[in-house]
Amino acid sequence: MRIAVTGGAGFIGSEVVRQIIEQTEHQVLVIDALSYAGNLQSLKPVSSHPRYRFSHSSVCDRQVISQLFTEFQPQIVMHLAAESHVDRSISGPDNFIEANIIGTFQLLEATRDYYQQLPSTEQALFRFHHISTDEVFGDLAETNDFFTEQTPYAPSSPYSASKAASDHLVRAWHRTYQLPIVVTNCSNNYGPYQFPEKLIPLVILNALQGKPLPIYGKGEQIRDWLYVADHARALLRVALEGEIGETYNIGGHNEKRNIDVVNTICQILDERFSEKPQGITSYSQLIQFVADRPGHDKRYAIDASKIAQQLDWQPLETFESGLRKTVEWYLDNQRWWQAVLDGSYATVEPISYQQEGDKS
Ligand code: NAD
Ligand code: DAU
Repeated sequence: MRIAVTGGAGFIGSEVVRQIIEQTEHQVLVIDALSYAGNLQSLKPVSSHPRYRFSHSSVCDRQVISQLFTEFQPQIVMHLAAESHVDRSISGPDNFIEANIIGTFQLLEATRDYYQQLPSTEQALFRFHHISTDEVFGDLAETNDFFTEQTPYAPSSPYSASKAASDHLVRAWHRTYQLPIVVTNCSNNYGPYQFPEKLIPLVILNALQGKPLPIYGKGEQIRDWLYVADHARALLRVALEGEIGETYNIGGHNEKRNIDVVNTICQILDERFSEKPQGITSYSQLIQFVADRPGHDKRYAIDASKIAQQLDWQPLETFESGLRKTVEWYLDNQRWWQAVLDGSYATVEPISYQQEGDKS
């Protein structure tokens, strides 16, 4: 198959692309605008592979996307490109409206044009996979309540509202224009190559540098954590085998309070390093309770029984095994995160689609 992956230089997208190249025979075209969250170093393990292409382009640019589709002839489009950080959406929502809503709209229109011109044999194969979040459902209070595919939308933040809008657009393009779509809504991911603004990598890197570990409010909010490789496996399963028009919730069955997540990271580091940063005997002494996030969702928890039963997907990592792997990855890959912290990752020159295509 020829698979176009938007947002393929991001945290989850790059895991999807690495899995496609390393574990399948499919060809991949990454389409990424290389925002602050896009990092070509995350694609380095696969970027010289002949089945890999990269285009430095925005999903907001319909003409460019149309041209890329004409050249690459994707059979699957996996749409991950987005602004993804809730805190940034609160301090500046504009980029979220642009990338997540307008970007999805422009991509859908380019896809519709492309799809309508395909021969019927290719139309029968084609699908547009929209990658979304459990945050569209708002939050849960009861400990025995879970998000299902039928849970009504009630987004709380500019980020989740923009993702909810994009989900609605995708479903409308299916109903109105018969565009073959699948949608997934996933819980919190963690793992290698995550930008250190998100809780888990932020805490690991701050701890290693002896900096404060900020916990919003009392740290009692609950997230359902999923190791990124498990999410990427689920995404490929849905992209290749999901039923057209369907939505699948993806989650890790790992509900944890934020304070417990941070304490577990501190315990792993305490065991790992007998010498601690100056003046402390445990990394947990670096914890600082700070002002809460406005509109902070209390609890997320996913019922992932549909994808388990219909597509035979289960997470392979427990939170404990995944978190240890994640800490070890950040310890072993200082060059990756140092380049992010000092900003030099953003100066790596992308290899364009045309140049890369000419080579093969
Ligand atoms: P990320 O912020 O790490 O990566 C986003 C990528 O999209 C970056 O490479 C960025 O350069 C690119 N991008 C942004 N705007 C673009 C545009 N206009 N055109 C092309 N590329 C653009 O995000 P992530 O954590 O990898 O999330 C990927 C997707 O998965 C997002 O749609 C997000 O909403 C969804 N999601 C994330 C999580 C999570 O826990 N991280 C959970 C569920 C769903
Ligand atoms: O649920 C899926 C969502 O998970 C994705 O759609 C988003 O793209 C992704 O960023 C993530 O959103 P969260 O807001 O849950 O992730 P974040 O890592 O920012 O925060 C996790 C929890 O930790 C949340 O309750 C806020 C809290 N937090 C976060 C940071 C950055 C802190 O207490 N301190 C912090 O410094």
